[in-house]
Amino acid sequence: MKNERSPAGPSTLLTILFLFLAVGCTDNQMNQDQAVIAKQSFGQTPEGVSVDLYTMTNANGLEVRAITYGGIIVSVRVPDAAGQLEDVVLGYDSLNGYLEQNPYFGAIIGRYGNRIDEGRFAIDGETYQLATNNGSNHLHGGVKGFDKVVWDATPVDTKNGVSLVFTYTSPDGEEGYPGTLQARVTYTLTNDDDLMFDYEATTDRETPVNLTQHTYFNLAGDGEGDILGHELMINADAFTPVDETLIPLGEIRPVENTPFDFRQPMPIGSRIGDDSKQLRRGPGYDHNFVLNRNEAGADSLVLAARVTEPTSGRVMEVYTTEPGLQFYSGNFLDGSIAGKNGVVYEYRTGFCLETQHYPDSPNQPNFPSTILRPGERYFTRTVYSFSVEGG
Ligand code: BGC
Repeated sequence: MKNERSPAGPSTLLTILFLFLAVGCTDNQMNQDQAVIAKQSFGQTPEGVSVDLYTMTNANGLEVRAITYGGIIVSVRVPDAAGQLEDVVLGYDSLNGYLEQNPYFGAIIGRYGNRIDEGRFAIDGETYQLATNNGSNHLHGGVKGFDKVVWDATPVDTKNGVSLVFTYTSPDGEEGYPGTLQARVTYTLTNDDDLMFDYEATTDRETPVNLTQHTYFNLAGDGEGDILGHELMINADAFTPVDETLIPLGEIRPVENTPFDFRQPMPIGSRIGDDSKQLRRGPGYDHNFVLNRNEAGADSLVLAARVTEPTSGRVMEVYTTEPGLQFYSGNFLDGSIAGKNGVVYEYRTGFCLETQHYPDSPNQPNFPSTILRPGERYFTRTVYSFSVEGG
């Protein structure tokens, strides 16, 4: 990440101007020194709700496209070392794919990213039962989480890029969660090639909140085989081992001398087949890493991970204010999904780096709290920063 974004307020006139320019531009005219954002239709849900597609393009030609259904990022086009732009995320060509079968490709996850044991927890002595949708556990917000609702979206210009502000009001009792939650997630594409996510929420009753983003990456390019050759560094001395249903055991275990030690860059595939009980449970990497935040306060960004893809030279760094990172190596992709351009998503052809609080925190007293209370403001920030090396 080359530059910290300076927060900028909305400017409706400029937004309208950008929209006008973007919509009226041909590809050649898009060689601008300004970032632009354009809107078009992406169809309708079965209930007849319109879904829009926003295309954000920065001054260097990087392009991020996101839809209002689930806030789903449908494509991210970034250059390789030779300057060749390519889409590096998994997904579908049309809304139907996302409606029919989506293992959370590209989506905003909420209210609670990852699992809650048996979907049950207690706050101040009162027990709540959430929807269960992953065996007997609650996963990624339940049967109809934030990935399956249509968000309102507003484009906003910033000093150094463009933003898209998604808002959604989650009603009291939705998927079993207490309280009305006002959620706001802002995607910003900067001219420094950073894709930044700001997650905000307020509530009128105590409720767990753990918002994240579930984009699957393949930095060689969508459809360019498995991700096992990507080199990954995770800035974590420890991880949270899991039981057979991927619920944390409660232990913070050092990564030293385990296949979970990514403190030095390692190919994802180099130890994924090791004889390790934790890897068998994944099966593969599907674990929360306890990030080294050292003295950094909860509002400062720290480097969580760095991924390089040797054949293309693409690099992605992940910075976050969060204490945890779920590294998921696409173990449940099994060739049953045909995605963009008919590409079949085989085993481990995409990976996710989901910044988060630890899974099952509402039931784990030694994990940082995820309970949001009335009067508090939830805020977390994560940045995916793109660059190249070699070439
Ligand atoms: C979870 C996986 C799950 C996947 C869904 C990840 O965040 O950790 O266990 O299968 O999401 O696609």
